[in-house]
Amino acid sequence: MCGIVGYVGEQQALDVVVDGLRRLEYRGYDSAGVAVLDATGPRLQIERRAGKLANLEAALAQGRLAGTLGIGHTRWATHGAPTDRNAHPHTDCSGAVAVVHNGTIENFADLREGLEARGHELTSDTDTEAVAHLIEERYAAGEEGDLAAAVRGVCASLEGSYVLVVAHRDHPDLVVGARRNLPLVVGIGDGENFLASDVTAFIAHTREARALDQDQVVELRREGVVVTDLDGVEVGGECFHVDWDTAAAEKAGFDYFMLKEIQEQPDAVRDTIGGRFGLDGRLRLDELSISDEDVRGFEKVFIVAAGSSYHSGLVGKYAIERWCRLPVEVEMASEFRYRDPVLDRHTLVVAISQSGETADTLEAVRHARQQRAWVLTISNTVGSSMARESDAAFYTRGGPEIAVASTKAVMTQLAAVYLAGLYLAQVRGTRDPDEVRSHFRDLETVPALITEVLSRMDATRKLARDLSGEERVLFLGRHVGYPMALEGALKLKELAYVSAEGMPAGEIKHGPIALIDKGTPVVVLATRHALQAKLVTNIQEIRARGARTIVIATDGDETVIPYADHLIRLPDTKSLLSPMLTLVPLQVFAAEFAMARGLDVDQPRNLAKSVTVE
Ligand code: AGP
Repeated sequence: MCGIVGYVGEQQALDVVVDGLRRLEYRGYDSAGVAVLDATGPRLQIERRAGKLANLEAALAQGRLAGTLGIGHTRWATHGAPTDRNAHPHTDCSGAVAVVHNGTIENFADLREGLEARGHELTSDTDTEAVAHLIEERYAAGEEGDLAAAVRGVCASLEGSYVLVVAHRDHPDLVVGARRNLPLVVGIGDGENFLASDVTAFIAHTREARALDQDQVVELRREGVVVTDLDGVEVGGECFHVDWDTAAAEKAGFDYFMLKEIQEQPDAVRDTIGGRFGLDGRLRLDELSISDEDVRGFEKVFIVAAGSSYHSGLVGKYAIERWCRLPVEVEMASEFRYRDPVLDRHTLVVAISQSGETADTLEAVRHARQQRAWVLTISNTVGSSMARESDAAFYTRGGPEIAVASTKAVMTQLAAVYLAGLYLAQVRGTRDPDEVRSHFRDLETVPALITEVLSRMDATRKLARDLSGEERVLFLGRHVGYPMALEGALKLKELAYVSAEGMPAGEIKHGPIALIDKGTPVVVLATRHALQAKLVTNIQEIRARGARTIVIATDGDETVIPYADHLIRLPDTKSLLSPMLTLVPLQVFAAEFAMARGLDVDQPRNLAKSVTVE
C-alpha cells in the first residue's frame, strides 16, 4: 500500500514529511512526492519523482521548499506506470489543490470522462488526478473557501477504497484527510498535528494518535483536529498512546509482515476485483492491445509461472477450460521454453508473476513473443518487465508484499485467473453477459468469506504448534483442491523447512501411500465438491494405515467427520472459488508451524522475494 504523510505545525514541513515517508519505505513503492505550502505566495510547491526517495531528495536539494504545512506520498502503482508524471501529489487545473491518495477509485474512468467533458485537462494516468479536479469543482461551487466541505462532497461521489490527504494554497493552516476501507491515523502534537497511513511516520514526534473510522473526514490544524462524518457532523473518537517501537509499527503490531499480509487478503481481493466492469457492462483488463477478433482467434492457452504463481495458474486452467472450452496447458516457466512448445498467432500465453521480474517466467514470455504468440501478464507490479513486454496486463492491486512467502499475491492471482477466464468467455461469447455477471457476483462474495475464515483460525494455529515437531506432512486434494495441496506443501517447505508433499488424492495409492506411517500428518482438502465421495474414500485409505488426518471441510458436511482427527471448517462457496478459502488455513498452518520452530517466517533461509536469475 502507498505511504501518506500530512503535517501542519511550526517545524519545516519538508523535513517532517520526507522523514515520515522514509519511515514508510518498508511498505514498498515506486515513486514519491511532496507538496509544501508557501504561505507568502500563497502557492503550493510540488516536487515528485519516479523511483526511490533518493531521487526525490536529489530533486529537492536543488531548491528547498519552505513552509510549515505539507503533504507527501510514496506510491505503489496500480493505475498508471511508476513515472514522474504519475507520481503524487496531483493538482487541479490551477495548481490550487494538491492531493495524495492511497487505494483504488473504482469509478474513476467515469469521473474522468465527466471532468474532461467539462473542460478539465488531466495529464496523468492516475485515478488520483481526477479527485483533485473534483475538489476544485466542489470548492468553487460550494461555500467559498470550505475545503473540508468540498472534500466531503467528493468522497460521497467516489466508489472503492481510498485515503485522501488534501492541501489548498488558500489554507495555510489546514490539511484535510478522508478514508474509506484503508487506514488513516492522526498524530496529536503540541502546536502541530500529523496525518499518516500508519503511526510509523510520526511516532518520532508524538505517540498520541487517533485512528479515523470509515467514511470520516479530518480537518487538521496547528491548534487542533476536527473529525466529521460525510455530512459534516462532528464525531467523537478515542485517542490512543502508541507503545509500539518502529519495527512493530511497520507490521501494524504483527510479529511478521507475513501475518499482516495474510490479514490484508480480503482488502487485496476487493481492490483486485473492484471496478472491473465498465459502464458498457464488459469486464476490463488494465492494459490491452489484443483485439476482440484476435481473442476470438485463440485456439490454445498456455499458463506459465513459478512457485505459488504456478499453483494459481493450475486453478486458472479449470476456469478457462470450463468457460471458454479452450485447451489449457499449465507449465513451470523454467521448463516451458526448453521443450520447444508449439506456439503461433492462435496461442495465448498467460504469464503469472507477483514481481513481474522472475527470470524463468520473463524468459518464457520472451520466447512466446518470439514465436508470435499473444502474451497476457498477470502481475502485482505495474510497469514490471513482464507487463511491459506483454500484449496485455492484468494487475492484482494487492499492494506490496514484503514477506518472501506469497500470501495475498497468490490469493489475488486466484481472483485474477478467475476474471481472466470470464473475460475470455465474454469476448469469445462462450458465456452470455448475464452468466459472466453472475460469476462475478459470486467472486464479490469472497472477501467477506475470507474474513470469516480468518476469524476461525485459532484451532488451526494450535494444531500447527502441536504438530511442529513433525518432519513429514502430506497434502491431498482433488480437482481445484490439488493445486492448493501443492501450495500448502510449498508454504510448509519454504517456511518450516519440512519435507512436505502435495499430490492429487487419487494418486496416493499409486506409491506415496507407502510414506504413511503411524501418526503421519496428512492434510486433506475436502471442501464440498462433486468428487467428495472419492475424497472420503481416500481419507479412509490413509487413516486405515495410521495417518493423522487433518481435514479441511465445508460447514455442515457430516460425511468426513468419522475420518477426521482434526477438522477445519470453511463456509460454503462455489467450487471454483473454494481455493481462495482453503488457501487461508494452509497459510496460517505453515506460518504457525514455522514460528513454533522459532523460524523467521518473513525471511526464510536460502530464499529471495524475486528470483531474477534462471
Ligand atoms: C512462494 O511463496 C514463493 N515466494 C515463490 O514460489 C514465488 O511464488 C515464486 O518465486 C514466483 O514469484 P513471482 O510470482 O514473483 O514470479
